[in-house]
Amino acid sequence: TRRSSVLRREAVVAAIPAAVAALLVAAGPAAAGPVGTSGAGDPYFPLAGNGGYDVGHYGLTLGYDPRSGHLDGTAVVTARATERLTRFDLDLSGLKVTGVTVDHVKASYRRAGQELVITPRHSLRRKQEFRVAVTYSGTPKPVTDPDGSPDGWIPTDDGAFVAGEPQGAMTWFPADNHPKDKASYDFTITVPDGTTAVANGVLRGRTTSHGRTTFRWRQSEPMASYLATATVGKFKVEQYTTADGLKVYNAVDPREASAAAPVLKKLPSVLAWESGVFGPYPFRAAGAIVDRAPQVGYALETQTRPLYDSAPDLSTLVHESAHQWFGDSVALTTWKDIWLNEGFATYAEWLYTEQHGGRSAQQAFDALYAKPAGNDLWAFAPADPGSGAHIFETPVYSRGAMALQKLRTAVGDRTFLRILRTWATEHRAGHGTTAEFVRLSERLSGKDLHPLFHTWIGTAGKPSSP
Ligand code: ARG
Ligand code: ZN
Repeated sequence: TRRSSVLRREAVVAAIPAAVAALLVAAGPAAAGPVGTSGAGDPYFPLAGNGGYDVGHYGLTLGYDPRSGHLDGTAVVTARATERLTRFDLDLSGLKVTGVTVDHVKASYRRAGQELVITPRHSLRRKQEFRVAVTYSGTPKPVTDPDGSPDGWIPTDDGAFVAGEPQGAMTWFPADNHPKDKASYDFTITVPDGTTAVANGVLRGRTTSHGRTTFRWRQSEPMASYLATATVGKFKVEQYTTADGLKVYNAVDPREASAAAPVLKKLPSVLAWESGVFGPYPFRAAGAIVDRAPQVGYALETQTRPLYDSAPDLSTLVHESAHQWFGDSVALTTWKDIWLNEGFATYAEWLYTEQHGGRSAQQAFDALYAKPAGNDLWAFAPADPGSGAHIFETPVYSRGAMALQKLRTAVGDRTFLRILRTWATEHRAGHGTTAEFVRLSERLSGKDLHPLFHTWIGTAGKPSSP
C-alpha cells in the first residue's frame, strides 16, 4: 500500500539528496492535477517504486533471443489508484517503449532516467482499478548496484541469469519496483527450442511451434518485484511433487549438474525441517535454478525458486530456503530493515547446523563475538546500514543473526521459536518492520527487550559484553 500526493511529494523531495531531488524536478513540469510520486519514499533507493497506486497483478509476455540478446515484452499491469491521479510512473531502465495504453486507451508517456512517466487520457479516480499495457523491446542490461554488483537481466552464453535484488526488476519489465508493493504474476516466455525459461511459481504449460517454445508460469501468492525471475538457458530439468504436495521444479546448468545433485536432493527435507520450525511453507511451488554462466558471486531467494550461480552448498540452500519465509512471504517495507531478511536467513543456517549435529548457534555467536572491535562485523548497526551500498554486508547477516541469538537466550528456546513462527504466520504474504518484530518479541515474552535490540541491532561498534 502506498500513499502520495503533491504535498507528500514535497516531503519526499526534502528528504532525499539534492542530486536526486534535481532529477525528480527534472521529471517534468507540474501536471494539471495530482501526480504519483517517482519514488516509494525509500531513503536508500529514492526512485525505487512509485506513489499513487498499488499493483495487484503483472502479466508479462516476453520473447527472448539468446543469440542476439534481444527481448520483446508486453507488460499488463493491473493496479488500483490510491489517490486521484492525472499522471503516474512505472520504473523501467533501458529498453525502448513502443506503446502504452491505460484501460485500452492510448496514453502519452515519456522517459526520465528510470521513470516511465505515463499520462492517461482520462485522470484516474481514487480507488479506481486500472490496467496499463506497456509494449517494449531492446537489449536488456543489468544495473550496477551501489555495492558494485550487477543486478537485473544478465545475459549469458545461452540465455540470461535474471536476479533483481534490490533494483534489477526494472531492467526487464516496467514495475512498481519496491518490495512495499507486492503482486501476483503471470509469465509467458518464448525462447528458441531446446532452451528453457524458468520463472516463479507453478509451470502451467509449455508449447512448441516453429522452433520456439513458450513457457507459462504463474506466481499466485504476492511477490516483491526483486524476487521475480525469468532465467533462460540450456538446463537439465527435474520435476516432482513432494509428499506434502509441493510442486518442485529444478533447472540446472549441465556443467553444474553432478555437483548440484546431492544438495538439491535435500531440498524437500530442508523445506520440511524449516516448515517444522517456522510454520507451513508459504508457497505451493518450490525448486532451484543453478546457472553457472555469469558468476555474479551471490545467490538470490527468487520466490519459490532460488537462483544460484553455481552448485550451492547445503548452508546456502538452507539460507535461500529460509528466505521464502523471511523476505519473500514476510517482505520489507524499507531496505533499511534488510536484517529482517539476511539476519534471519543466516540464523536459519545456524539453527539447521545445530539441529543436524554441527556446532550450536551459541558457538557460532561466540566465534563471531571473538572478533576484535576493529573488524568489519562491528562497522555499523544491523538495523541501520546507512545506505544502499551496505545492505549486503556482514553486520546485516552475521550481527543480525547474533541479535537473534541474544533474543533466544533472553526469552528461552520455546518463546524464541514461538516468536519466529508467529512472525512468519502473522505477516504471511505481507510485510513486517523492525519495530513490529521488537513489539512481537516483547508481547510474546512479556519482557522489555528495547535495551537488547538497541545494543544488538541499533548500535554500531562491538557491544561491551557478549
Ligand atoms: N539476498 C541475497 C542473499 O541471499 C543477496 C543478494 C545480493 N545482491 C546484491 N546485489 N549484492 O544473501
Ligand atoms: Zn540472504
